[in-house]
Amino acid sequence: MLPAPPPHPAFGPDAPVYLDHNATTPVDPRVAEAMRAPLAEAFGNPSSAHAYGTPARALLDEARGRVTGLIGADAGRLVFTGSGSEADALAVRGAVLQLIASGPGRWREERPHVITQPTEHPAVLAACEYLLRWHGAEVTLLGVDEQGRVDPDELRAVLTDRTLLVSVMHANNETGTIQPIAELARITHESPDALFHTDAAQTVAKVPVDVEALGVDLLTLVGHKMYAPKGIGALWVRDGVRLEPIVAGGGQEGGLRAGTENLPHAVALGAAAALASADLAADEPARLAALRDRLHAGLDAALPGRVRLNGHPVERLPHTLNVSLDGVDARALLALAPGVAASTGSACHAGATTPSPVLTGMGLDAARAFGALRLSLGRWTTEDDIDRAVALLAAAAADERAAATVTESAAERARRLARRTLPLITPGG
Ligand SMILES: Cc1ncc(COP(=O)(O)O)c(C=O)c1O
Repeated sequence: MLPAPPPHPAFGPDAPVYLDHNATTPVDPRVAEAMRAPLAEAFGNPSSAHAYGTPARALLDEARGRVTGLIGADAGRLVFTGSGSEADALAVRGAVLQLIASGPGRWREERPHVITQPTEHPAVLAACEYLLRWHGAEVTLLGVDEQGRVDPDELRAVLTDRTLLVSVMHANNETGTIQPIAELARITHESPDALFHTDAAQTVAKVPVDVEALGVDLLTLVGHKMYAPKGIGALWVRDGVRLEPIVAGGGQEGGLRAGTENLPHAVALGAAAALASADLAADEPARLAALRDRLHAGLDAALPGRVRLNGHPVERLPHTLNVSLDGVDARALLALAPGVAASTGSACHAGATTPSPVLTGMGLDAARAFGALRLSLGRWTTEDDIDRAVALLAAAAADERAAATVTESAAERARRLARRTLPLITPGG
């Protein structure tokens, strides 16, 4: 077992219980400390050949090595980006544009083909939609079952020799459902030109991730989901895979992402990766899974017969619990429980509240989506936090002001499901 992490300044004794780690993780104090050197001393431009550039370059290289070490990448290239969304765009747009450019005659006659699925993060869906709008790509959305998993046989059935990219996330940010990535990547490679991308924003540092075992060509990871700051992400690119850059210019990052490198954030990501490697070696996922199951059992006991699990019961992130509480509007419930910071299965846009496209994409009805709570645990979560959260959430669920207001007729639901096609873009986290 690992020694406990150093106390976190955001989590004093009176702080609300933080159960929203899938939205963002607190910056680990050890990561913040690691950023001090590149902020205070190693200010040089990593591309400068003089005495100030050399230590900056060394820190950048060390950070890159720590991140590739975490994902088992002995080869390939790791490109630092300004966010996970940017890494997704570089993977999806960059790979398809490069493949289109390499066969211009062919793509005047035929439509390039891209495959994804409806519970992806909006960054992937938007990149696919961009290819559809600006490059005439055909975009196929695989279905997902009630637990959020795609069916590998469906991928095999829709794959064509025009397919250039398949993008399926490793685990979903709302339900934690883990997709059968190795099998999907293997099937994808049965098509002559097709590449496979996975958005692993929610799995890297949370469960072991190995690019070779997964067999992927492109993998996205995100700093602020793994105790580094917001504003840094990375894309791992397999040797031989060519990408059209999204940001072109000075040739940094192997020509794949122009702009003087954000050294303090890259160093932070490297430090976070080193801490994550230690966590995984000490079985932190098992500690979190036990806490997650304690939370689930506690809610079940406090609200008998009213708690329904969303997502896969087994193939699921160890720190993520998504449950719908029957008869409850989860937004109202969380407003009545300010001592718990968590997310709901609905999103608010321009004053209108809509059910989560992830949950409705899995075929769940609107009432169940509006009753959904996403509770995600992290490095500082304790048993005491879990027991406090159960008591606060159960008390709020008993308050009549948390009662569900949404009902959906069978006809409305059928109409909504029939609209399950692009565009599917809504804010996500
Ligand atoms: C699965 C997934 N992909 C991509 C992202 C986007 O990351 P960023 O917020 O750094 O753009 C997130 C987080 O919001 C995510 O959960």
